[in-house]
Amino acid sequence: MLPNVLQPREADHVPVLAEEVRVYLGVQPGETVVDATFGAGGHAAILAGDLRGKGKLIAIDRDPTARTYFERLTSRATVSARLLRGDFGVVLPQLADNGVRADAILLDLGVSSMQLDRPERGFSYAADAPLDMRMDPTQDVSACDVVNTWSEKELATIFRRYGEERYARQIARAIVRRRRDRPFERTGELVDTIKAAIPAPARFGDGHPAKRVFQALRIAVNDELDSLEGALPAALEMLRPGGRLAVISFHSLEDRMVKERFRALTQACTCPPDLPVCACGARASFAALTRKPTVPSEAEVERNPRARSAKLRGVEKIR
Ligand SMILES: C[S@@+](CC[C@H](N)C(=O)[O-])C[C@H]1O[C@@H](n2cnc3c(N)ncnc32)[C@H](O)[C@@H]1O
Repeated sequence: MLPNVLQPREADHVPVLAEEVRVYLGVQPGETVVDATFGAGGHAAILAGDLRGKGKLIAIDRDPTARTYFERLTSRATVSARLLRGDFGVVLPQLADNGVRADAILLDLGVSSMQLDRPERGFSYAADAPLDMRMDPTQDVSACDVVNTWSEKELATIFRRYGEERYARQIARAIVRRRRDRPFERTGELVDTIKAAIPAPARFGDGHPAKRVFQALRIAVNDELDSLEGALPAALEMLRPGGRLAVISFHSLEDRMVKERFRALTQACTCPPDLPVCACGARASFAALTRKPTVPSEAEVERNPRARSAKLRGVEKIR
């Protein structure tokens, strides 16, 4: 049970699979914990609590609004902590190169409730707002740039690949046709164009008709897959022997990337499968904390519908 001061407030982002992350990371007093997706600090507060006043918390987030939550956490918890603002795909390799080592690292991917629920950030199809979607508002490229300047082919590709959108081609074509008259500025204009581009019955099935395109744009604008690609090897390198890495993903492309990397690390032998005994003698450097991904219980999804697509995987560096 968390001390009262560390309990998240109701209106904040609710940490997903919080107890499972806590068990997998098994943080002990005196350890160094890296929360590379600090957000509102929900997971960080729990992990900091487990340090029991001894050890270090390194928090990372590319969104400057994380600072307020970080200050709240440090004002309430006895923990030696610092916040590094930046893309974890850049910051983690820098930490690794500088010889920083950690015992527990968490990546809770995607967006936070504070980003989704602030309409002016432009992440949500549910409110009309400027078309933005940058987690780091100082970054050059926003959703507005992508929608107004990328080619029809590029748009169709990201809608299909990152959004698994069935009508990717039709939507991309409608966007390009509409922007010839007037560039897109607002989320509402994009939602209207998406709705008009898809067949009427599809507007009523499988969630909001703009959900998949908005997800695809967010992933493209924030270059989320490249960040993860850069972060994983650095996080693994930073782990001390016995150190644990946990990753929560919300999208099949992210989960596949994590699964494949973890599988390669935990399966030592590289001999062809038809060889009766191992001839390569290779030893695994990591052990899986989860054979299969851990997913939220029905009760958690009921309490927090945003947990629905979460998948947690973890590995431990062998001593
Ligand atoms: C799902 S939220 C994390 C919520 C957090 N675990 C909590 O309990 O409050 C993801 C957070 O990671 C940040 N983020 C996503 N991708 C990032 C990246 N490449 N580099 C740094 N921060 C990132 C987002 O800005 C967001 O605040």
